[in-house]
Amino acid sequence: MSEPNPDLRAMLCGIRLDDPILNASGTFDAIAAKRVFGRRLIDRFPFSAFVSKTITVAPRHGNPPPRLWEASGGLVNSIGLPNKGLDGFLAEDLPQLAALPVPLIVSVMGSSPEEFAELVEGVAPREEVAAIELNVSCPNVHSGLIVGEQPVEAEALLVGLRELTAKPLIVKLTPNLADPAAVGAAAVAGGADALSLINTVKATPIDPETLRPWLGNQSGGLSGPAVMPIALAQVRAVAAAVPSTPIIGMGGIESGLDALMFLAAGADLVAVGTACFRDPLAAERIRQELTKAMRERSIFSISEIPGRTGWALASTEIEGQLEG
Ligand code: FUM
Repeated sequence: MSEPNPDLRAMLCGIRLDDPILNASGTFDAIAAKRVFGRRLIDRFPFSAFVSKTITVAPRHGNPPPRLWEASGGLVNSIGLPNKGLDGFLAEDLPQLAALPVPLIVSVMGSSPEEFAELVEGVAPREEVAAIELNVSCPNVHSGLIVGEQPVEAEALLVGLRELTAKPLIVKLTPNLADPAAVGAAAVAGGADALSLINTVKATPIDPETLRPWLGNQSGGLSGPAVMPIALAQVRAVAAAVPSTPIIGMGGIESGLDALMFLAAGADLVAVGTACFRDPLAAERIRQELTKAMRERSIFSISEIPGRTGWALASTEIEGQLEG
């Protein structure tokens, strides 16, 4: 008799998901994909929940071109959060995203605690919205905010936002710090329900012709397979610091085995980002490969993945990471 398929069902802050594979914000334009693929996209939607591109209070054009650089094993982007702003999103995009066949997570970024509050107050009451991701980690926008970098600021932001909604608040952490686990732990202390990481790693490609920075904004953020070992280390450290908080792990996932490594490092869910640019159905393939990789290892549910329970970080290692 052949082995049964593993049970991939997952939970995110009370939201039931068919499997643990989401998209990383800003890497899959579901509205454009629906225009091109129509009903086929809905019938074959590649993610178990959809995370929107980050929105801001006011509309943004994004950064000057060039905005992309292909690096060895990755992609540097300096997109700069182009979006329609809160009002444009609510009027034009939300109705279309609400028609997707999976729960919707809206990603927001403010340049001040007041802007974050305006975004949360605008988005959270909409019943189409299952959860909100707070992007405190975009390397391409000079927000002037240090909430993503300073534990005290992160906690204060979350305390303020927590009063505004009972919907799950997910904080997206930056990897561009010595100690992301300290910021993650502070966000959870302030009321965050879940954490997602990593965002892109700060990067500056140099134009070989001019020997000056290639990107219009000078620097950007690196994603793709090149960042995966960094992401795994940070997921592991954050999971050890907040063992009861759901973690969405991402950073260069290209295969089912990559996804399994993130789950083994302590992520509860994973997100596929850069791989979607090359293949919009990458997440579907990754799900099939994850199923196979788990079955081959006689693992039949995510909770059975070795290493997830009683994470094997030595306590001295955890202390070292929390102290930076
Ligand atoms: O549009 C962007 O530049 C995306 C930034 C981010 O990583 O959050």
